[in-house]
Amino acid sequence: MKDIYKLLYTLTYFISLVPMKIYDILHGTEFSKIEKTGDKDGRFEYYPSPIFSFVLLKRYINLFLQGGKGHAILDIGCGKGYMLNFFRRYTFDKISGLEYDKKLCIKAKKNLKKLHSNIKIYNIDAIDFPAYKYYDVFYMYNPFDEHIMELCIEKILESLKENPRKITVIYCNPLYENVLIKKGFKVKKVFYYKTKVFELYGD
Ligand SMILES: C[S@@+](CC[C@H](N)C(=O)[O-])C[C@H]1O[C@@H](n2cnc3c(N)ncnc32)[C@H](O)[C@@H]1O
Repeated sequence: MKDIYKLLYTLTYFISLVPMKIYDILHGTEFSKIEKTGDKDGRFEYYPSPIFSFVLLKRYINLFLQGGKGHAILDIGCGKGYMLNFFRRYTFDKISGLEYDKKLCIKAKKNLKKLHSNIKIYNIDAIDFPAYKYYDVFYMYNPFDEHIMELCIEKILESLKENPRKITVIYCNPLYENVLIKKGFKVKKVFYYKTKVFELYGD
């Protein structure tokens, strides 16, 4: 049963790349191409978020995040910036991405420039990012393994000391959700296409 589910997921994932490819052709961007950078010490390679999770994600942003107003969102491991472009449709006060791979960062900047966006992209590892305190919503599409996840979440929690706030983590393909649960996050929503939303009220 598990194998059938895995196969279905893989199949639908590749189907989801088709509209993305069409978008790329129409806009001269390069979001859809998967990059075989390999697993670098638990840092997973680039593949864009599956568009099948978007229907519920859109509804979630509108219903629970006021369409973005009053919130600052950071894509941790933003790759070529596909989700940053998606978040532009909303009224987030701030949208940024961070990406450790320099080549991907350059591609993300190029993609967003083509779309006339000046969203900030930081070329930095998630475990070294010094500015989590400026964000309250974090998006991740399975960027790294459990160990890095732990270090990254610790860093986000550390930022609560300087800026106490409610934190939301939107985690697509949440392989290491146990880290969030261990650190006190509660599951707020489960989307059918392997996406979960977690919340933590920091004081
Ligand atoms: C599955 S891709 C997701 C890309 C993008 N968020 C999206 O949804 O389309 C994961 C990305 O995380 C990046 N990544 C992996 N480990 C990282 C780390 N420690 N710090 C920053 N980025 C990382 C990878 O290079 C890759 O681009």
